[in-house]
Amino acid sequence: MREQTARGLEAARNRTLRLTDLDEVELTTQHSPLMSPLVWDLAHIGQQEDLWLLRGGNAAAQGLLECKIEQLYDAFEHPRASRIDLPLMSPRESRSFIADVRGRVFDGLDRLEDPDPGQLFPYVMVEQHEQQHVETMTATHQLRVGEPLLGQGAPLPPGRVVPADSVLVPAGPFTLGVDGESEPWSLDNERPAHTVDLPAFRIARVPVSNGEWQAFIDAGGYDQPHWWSERGWRHRLDAGLDRPLFWAADGSRRRFGIVEEIPADEPVQHVCFFEAEAYAAWAGARLPTEQEWEKACAWDPVAQRRRRWPWGDSEWTPALANLGGEALRPAPVGAYETGASAYGVEQLIGDVWEWTSSSLEPWPGFETMLYADYSKPFFGGDYKVLRGGSWAVGGASIRPSFRNWDLPIRRQIFTGLRLAWDV
Ligand code: AVJ
Ligand code: FE
Repeated sequence: MREQTARGLEAARNRTLRLTDLDEVELTTQHSPLMSPLVWDLAHIGQQEDLWLLRGGNAAAQGLLECKIEQLYDAFEHPRASRIDLPLMSPRESRSFIADVRGRVFDGLDRLEDPDPGQLFPYVMVEQHEQQHVETMTATHQLRVGEPLLGQGAPLPPGRVVPADSVLVPAGPFTLGVDGESEPWSLDNERPAHTVDLPAFRIARVPVSNGEWQAFIDAGGYDQPHWWSERGWRHRLDAGLDRPLFWAADGSRRRFGIVEEIPADEPVQHVCFFEAEAYAAWAGARLPTEQEWEKACAWDPVAQRRRRWPWGDSEWTPALANLGGEALRPAPVGAYETGASAYGVEQLIGDVWEWTSSSLEPWPGFETMLYADYSKPFFGGDYKVLRGGSWAVGGASIRPSFRNWDLPIRRQIFTGLRLAWDV
């Protein structure tokens, strides 16, 4: 398990280094007010690793950085838009700092004798933190304007024609959330496991596609306030929304610097919560709650227990879901028939984060983890929960119980939707 932990940390670092293997200007430019300059993420990854793994979370202890410099990488202290104005470390200094931290972390990991999951948890937590910033940096790359730097992306399995239907999830209790015993790397907001009884509902077999979204545009969905919530319509007007981010009026889209035709059979991405809500209303449906989403994903109604993954308990392989970031895009609808859940729902894991109608709140019995401010400051705020992970998510950073969140206006993230219905 120690070796697997080390490999996970290395995999995250390889992705970080690939996304930041750029000249000084690319790394120190602010590509969008929504994002940090890449060099901030780079050093912040090391600063967090230093804090959680070299100092056991004791911020008062001296780390590898001078206090004044370390403070520049405090995400609560400095909003993303202002990070460009800070006297940040250079790319060279940042790379050497994160390598120095990593060397000491591996020394510490080597010294652990026969470590149990509890001792390894902080390491895997830090791995997940780095993978989350890799996804954030991927979003920064997508916002960047200029020559393509990342290529076309790796090949994906072909789609298949899937009936545009839904599956019934009958009423009844199931286990929501997980415990450390069953999912040792689950983060604080996924715990504890507890029983929830839901009324019956229907949920779409696959996520909403670009072609379906185009039909919403063609039907005037962006011009008809009755599909939108009051707040959503106000935002649609203020922000001038009329199609997903990165789509052009001529039917093309920009993807990591490449302009291409929009593939009709790919799950739609770069839509905000308000757009997702309006689409669902137009389609005669609604967004699922996160409880419904997790039941459809993880519950096995025959065995009356959770599966570790929708497809069963076996580990992820590239044949089961689109994760890991290499593809640079979602896979076409129907690409992962064998990745279906017990209820027959497909593409729940990977491809696009899925907006749910739920706001981020703690599960009953919530307790903070070592990184006590990971979730807690965000409970009760204006955040909507996203489920399932996108194509950009690292394999170790997603589980059926994983809960992501963002503001309802955000759409630079790799987020789409799946429909649900009352029965
Ligand atoms: C869980 C993606 C909402 O990026 O704000 C990274 C993850 N927290 N560093 C975020 C996170 C601290 C977090 N999300
Ligand atoms: Fe962070």
